[in-house]
Amino acid sequence: MAGLSTTRIGQHVIAYDEVVSTQPLAHEAAAKGAAEGTLVLAEQQTGGKGRLGRPWHSPKGTGIWMSLIVRPAIPLPKTPQMTLLTAVSVAGTIREETGLPVKIKWPNDIFIGDKKVCGILTELNAEADRVNYLVIGIGLNANSVQADFPEELLAIATSLRIESGSPVKRVAFIQRFCQNFEEEYNHYLREGFQRVKKEWEAHSYTIGRWVTVQTISQKLEGQAIGLDEEGVLMVKDRLGQIHKVYSADVNYRAN
Ligand code: BTN
Repeated sequence: MAGLSTTRIGQHVIAYDEVVSTQPLAHEAAAKGAAEGTLVLAEQQTGGKGRLGRPWHSPKGTGIWMSLIVRPAIPLPKTPQMTLLTAVSVAGTIREETGLPVKIKWPNDIFIGDKKVCGILTELNAEADRVNYLVIGIGLNANSVQADFPEELLAIATSLRIESGSPVKRVAFIQRFCQNFEEEYNHYLREGFQRVKKEWEAHSYTIGRWVTVQTISQKLEGQAIGLDEEGVLMVKDRLGQIHKVYSADVNYRAN
C-alpha cells in the first residue's frame, strides 16, 4: 500500500473482488509462508464467517472485510490477548478517523451505542504448544446504509456511515489501522499485555454491566468487573464470588 509507514503490518496485501471468505485464503497464504503482517482483503464475501459458526453479512463495496496474518512468539494460552489487542486497535482507528464514541464488548465486538459495527474472528494455527500463526479476521461495517442490512440485522447492527453521516475512506482507514496495530503489537511483544488491558478497560462496553454468561459448562449471572492480568473477563456474582470467563457468549441484563 503506497504511503504506509509500517515495517510489517499491511506491507503485503492480497486483494480480491469476490471471495467466499478471506479467512481460509489467509490460512492458505500463511501455510505457504506469507510474511507476518500480510493482509487478505475482499470487496465482497459470499460466505463470510462470524464467531461461533455464525454467518457474517459482507455485501459488495460497503465494508472492510480483511484477514491479517501474524506470527507472534507468544505461548499458546496468551493468544486470546491478540484479539483484545486487535479490538483496541480497531476502536482507536475508528475514533481517530470518525470521532465516533466506540466501545468494546467482550471479547471482541466493537459497538456504537447498543449496535455492533465491527466483529473480530481470530483463528489459530499451532503445533504442540507452539504458535505457527494467527489469522485475525476483521469485519467492519464502514459505508453500509440501512438498506444494505437484512431486516434481522437492522436492530442490532450499524455502520460508521450511518452513525457519522459521511462515508469513510476505506484505504486511509486500513492504513491508519495498520499503523495503530503495528504500534500496539510491537509494544505488546516488548512490554507485555498491560497497556492493551488498560486501553481495553478504558473503552469497555462490558465492564460495570450486569451480565449472564453461558459457558460450555455453566450459566453464570453477575457484574463484569474487569480483565485479569491475562485478559480473562472477571465476573462477580451476587455472593461476591469472582469467576473467570474464558470464552463464552455474554448477554446483558438490567441488574
Ligand atoms: C464476529 O463478530 O462474529 C466476527 C466477524 C468476523 C468477520 C470477518 S470479515 C473478514 C473475515 N472473513 C470472514 O469470513 N470473517 C472475518
